[in-house]
Amino acid sequence: MKKILIAMLVVFAIALVAFAADKGPETINLADKWEVKAKKHAVIFPHAFHQTKNECTECHAADGSLVNIDGKAIAPKGTLKPGKKDKVVHNEFCIKCHKAKKVKKGSSCNTCHKK
Ligand code: HEC
Ligand code: HEC
Ligand code: HEC
Repeated sequence: MKKILIAMLVVFAIALVAFAADKGPETINLADKWEVKAKKHAVIFPHAFHQTKNECTECHAADGSLVNIDGKAIAPKGTLKPGKKDKVVHNEFCIKCHKAKKVKKGSSCNTCHKK
């Protein structure tokens, strides 16, 4: 039992280190990434900027997949419809944290959908 536990911890630690070593792109076009046929201006997500203001774990699980600030798994690909605001991306992921951290104009369309 103890051995299994230690083995699991080691695997988890390696996954975490391997993930944190790759900081990912500086900016990410999320309309491309999530394959949305965007009607609004595509969101160019300032990834590197967010890394200076937040912990990786506020957005990523140990395997790199996305989570929101409550640790809930977020899977935006396929949830977004052109011309429609989306519960997962807007309410549960981006804006949920912007509200929690009192980001200025964090819910304004133009903050994220920049010209
Ligand atoms: C905190 C960031 C953020 C804010 C604020 C925000 N959005 Fe979005 N929105 C996104 C992201 C991320 C996507 C998915 C990627 C993309 O479409 O570029 C998206 C997608 C969309 C889409 C679906 C794709 C499209 O372009 O047709 C619509 C419609 C949309 N948003 C409308 C709005 C409206 C209206 C507001 C203001 C009331 C708003 N959004 C505010 C981040 C934001
Ligand atoms: C505010 C949220 C947020 C923070 C903080 C954040 N990321 Fe990300 N990261 C994202 C989003 C959103 C994506 C791209 C969308 C997706 O994976 O579906 C992404 C993508 C990545 C990718 C590329 C994965 C791929 O599919 O190409 C890597 C690697 C990554 N992040 C590493 C990190 C590391 C390491 C940290 C901490 C130093 C970090 N991220 C902090 C939101 C964040
Ligand atoms: C874990 C918390 C968190 C999440 C999730 C998050 N943000 Fe942010 N965001 C922040 C913080 C903190 C700031 C900066 C506040 C400041 O200016 O110090 C910020 C600022 C921004 C800004 C303004 C950047 C600038 O140049 O001033 C944009 C654009 C933005 N976020 C887009 C997004 C989008 C799009 C998503 C979802 C894909 C998202 N954010 C998800 C925490 C978050």
